[in-house]
Amino acid sequence: MEQYNASLPYDRLFYAQDIAGSIAFARANFNNDILTKDEFAAIEKGLNEVKQEWAENRFEVKPNDEDIHTANERRLSELVGKDIGGKLHTGRSRNEQIATDMRLWLREELKGIEKLLNLLVKTAMQRADAEIHVLMPGYTHLQKAQPVRWSHWLLSHATSFSFELERLREVIKRVNRSPLGCGALAGNPFKIDREAMAKELGFDGLLYNSMNAVADRDFVFETLQWGSSFMMKISRWAEDLIIYSSLEFGFVRLADAYSTGSSLMPQKKNADSLELLRGKAGRAFGQMAGLFCTIKGLPTTYNKDLQESVEPLIDHIKTVSDSIQIATGVLSTLTINPEKMLAALAPEMLATEFADYLVRKGVPFREGHHISGRVVALAEDQGVPMDKLSKEQLKGIDSRLGDDVVECLDYERAVELKDASGGTSKSAVKEQIKILKEVLGDA
Ligand code: ARG
Repeated sequence: MEQYNASLPYDRLFYAQDIAGSIAFARANFNNDILTKDEFAAIEKGLNEVKQEWAENRFEVKPNDEDIHTANERRLSELVGKDIGGKLHTGRSRNEQIATDMRLWLREELKGIEKLLNLLVKTAMQRADAEIHVLMPGYTHLQKAQPVRWSHWLLSHATSFSFELERLREVIKRVNRSPLGCGALAGNPFKIDREAMAKELGFDGLLYNSMNAVADRDFVFETLQWGSSFMMKISRWAEDLIIYSSLEFGFVRLADAYSTGSSLMPQKKNADSLELLRGKAGRAFGQMAGLFCTIKGLPTTYNKDLQESVEPLIDHIKTVSDSIQIATGVLSTLTINPEKMLAALAPEMLATEFADYLVRKGVPFREGHHISGRVVALAEDQGVPMDKLSKEQLKGIDSRLGDDVVECLDYERAVELKDASGGTSKSAVKEQIKILKEVLGDA
């Protein structure tokens, strides 16, 4: 039961947060006249010594150390004596401690993830800027649809990631609220200055209902939901690149560092990095769904089930953080093959241009669409690509398909015509880069 109950094997990760929280708590109790100046000084010094032991891997775990809170307090009392050490926990509960520790730890982790995500978006943006001349097929239903810029594809994902960046900033705000001073559930009976403790610990504000403060794992949910949403997106991004890096497509080639060979087939170059990004998304969703199941039936307020939120959170953060770094590495080192992208463009992808051409001559779009459909059908009948039909054949379909209709067969022109905001023309793509830069800020 002791082993089953213990959380120290993983919550020891929060040793520094736990000690920072304890020092803030002791200081507040000193200002409350619960602790004398000397007692507080001894506790602060002792706790810093405990922290040093953890940092230098010297902390000796004892069999009764159930979690990081009991371990630290036990060791403090050994260092400063039970008479003083025993006063630290006055008016305090481990329920508020674990919530405080997790929030402090998570806040810093999420800030780190924000920086990493910023870098991923920036990497995509820089490539988009540098490789703006490259055209590729754009797909719907994984069928060739219309030509687009490679940059446009890059930015489609970067834009999506930037929304996650904005969401993440919101999550951090709600994580960074202090439960300290809420006691086991009912509040603190010694007039503790919660504001002062929150300020010392860098919290942006207080959780203002003590029962909520110890029962609540919204900050974990929100993180797991956020992480799942991000992993879902990185998984789709990875899937695109898996397809584009296949021999059949050959649009991109992963750096050797991010791919592996096969133990059996010498010719293989497998996109393991991308497959793992896709695979780890499943793991992230599982952690989110698991925590919902764990908590949905709990009576308020604290129940030990809540301890089960710690491990998934730690793993989730590592998964997301590692994944962003791998994605950034993949993106910054892959090489593109513009010739292959160009060769994959098919004249049929310009069929819409014929309809648009007719629209510019006053033909209703529906009719233009129909005429252009007949052009495609004729080319298919004749077994030739659309651009190999003669001027006469085109005129035969509709006399309004004049000699100048050949201009529709220019991919670059088709792309440049999409110059309304959000489109794939050079100017529209550059506008997107500018907007993304603003979202990123100076971070
Ligand atoms: N290790 C516990 C956790 O992670 C700390 C809180 C224990 N509280 C209690 N009432 N048993 O949730």
